[in-house]
Amino acid sequence: MTRCLRLPLRVALGLAVAVALGGCGRGRPAKRSEPLMDVFRKQAQEEGLTRAQTEGKRLFGQYCVTCHGDAGGGDGQNAYNLDPKPPVFQTSLTTHPRTYWRQIIEGGTASVGRSPLCPPWGHNLTASQIDELVAYLDALARPAPPTQPSAPAPKS
Ligand code: HEC
Repeated sequence: MTRCLRLPLRVALGLAVAVALGGCGRGRPAKRSEPLMDVFRKQAQEEGLTRAQTEGKRLFGQYCVTCHGDAGGGDGQNAYNLDPKPPVFQTSLTTHPRTYWRQIIEGGTASVGRSPLCPPWGHNLTASQIDELVAYLDALARPAPPTQPSAPAPKS
């Protein structure tokens, strides 16, 4: 404590800022009010997505949909220009382990000896964002869940 107090004020302040900015870096920054994201998260929750999958869905919408299509059907706007085309995730993903999906997201399809058409994201996205994308691919790869059982009939 006394050592800490002896530090020049500037250094102490610098440390305080560094701790405030980076010290809690493992968690997510405090949630800001984002009305559109709140609606998006609510919908994702209703679709049965976990928190990680919800974030993955947001990232997927931002970076992947243009080729892979909204639901990963390989029918994004840009798919037309690609050969090979992005695969239909619902049938293709289940043929590989998650480590393979992760490797592709990080290093692109070229990193697993396929075409260079799926770009590498390992430099732009953090490891946890890639985890979130993998979690979302998991949801896309799953066949649609059976319709929710309806609420129990009121007792009469
Ligand atoms: C520029 C278009 C493009 C973008 C953007 C893109 N991909 Fe791809 N992706 C492809 C193509 C094309 C393939 C198939 C390439 C091949 O087979 O050589 C592919 C393949 C994949 C595969 C392998 C699927 C399988 O079952 O074999 C995964 C996983 C994947 N992409 C994930 C992603 C994710 C996640 C993003 C966003 C972060 C993304 N891609 C963005 C074009 C794209």
